[in-house]
Amino acid sequence: MSGARVVSSVHLGPPEIERLRDCELRVVDFAHASRRDLAEALRNAHGLLIDSHLTADSALLELAPHLRALSTISVGLDHIDLAAASQRSITVTHTPVLSDAVADLTLALILMTTRRLGEAVDTVANGVWDDALLGTDLRSKTLLIVGLGRIGREVARRALAFKMHVCGYDARAEVPEITGVERLALLADGLGRADIVSLHVDLNPTTRHFIDEAALAAMKPTAFLINTSRGGVVDQTALTRALVEHRLAGAGLDVLEREPPSTGEPLLAMPNVVVLPHIGSATVETRRSMLNCAVDNLAACLRGEICEHTVALASPSTSADNAGGFD
Ligand code: DGY
Repeated sequence: MSGARVVSSVHLGPPEIERLRDCELRVVDFAHASRRDLAEALRNAHGLLIDSHLTADSALLELAPHLRALSTISVGLDHIDLAAASQRSITVTHTPVLSDAVADLTLALILMTTRRLGEAVDTVANGVWDDALLGTDLRSKTLLIVGLGRIGREVARRALAFKMHVCGYDARAEVPEITGVERLALLADGLGRADIVSLHVDLNPTTRHFIDEAALAAMKPTAFLINTSRGGVVDQTALTRALVEHRLAGAGLDVLEREPPSTGEPLLAMPNVVVLPHIGSATVETRRSMLNCAVDNLAACLRGEICEHTVALASPSTSADNAGGFD
């Protein structure tokens, strides 16, 4: 790896720079650089370090003919054209080290929506002390987890501690059983029973609008939808309609189809909807682990070592097998 040229779209501190000390490192402001500057920076790059704000599509990868390793500081890969990377024999790695942080935030959203905490905070801030703002218990309620990857499994463990009945759906047969979790063969089996539906699938052509008009119509009008995965997994227009028509009790969303949302976004004005700015992994410890992991992944790939966080380089499949959990 000695002398490998690395381009980073994120600023690195001394510890990360030290771990890449054998490389020639260049930080590039992709958001503001001209295409000419990008072409110049990427022309000789062997390694690229990015986060999910940067789209690594085929046009960008084309600018980097010598690229061998692409390391993203995220678990999600929907900002990367994996098929184009595969065609160019670029190894892509990610950082599946955020499961606890995202699972914690999922439970926070479940509590915020079911106990109406956003409304309670607003009420107090507006000078009203209303101790009859009733929510609903979690005990004995049914949580449907869609996607039983690392994050979904952590959510299940937490929900069981809240004495909930937990059921889970994952299209992948090989996903291990979780003690205490009822495994469902079909999503439809759980949608009509669940008091809360929580989404933990990655975004790919199969899962785009996985929760559509029909899925929302199958849910109980007293149910809540929680999404800490990717906004595109839910048809946001259909969700808005379901909420306006009281066909759903509320929603807790850490992700939206468009981030940041436009100012007139109707979901932002609904008292039974909590919207957070995509902060599932936003703890000091987790963000530090993600950065460390991504730098180590890149260094390992550039040294020609096998990296455990390498993702499959197959073209995105359109089979239902892809409706699995975040790994
Ligand atoms: C991830 O790592 O995928 C988080 O959602 C941040 O993008």
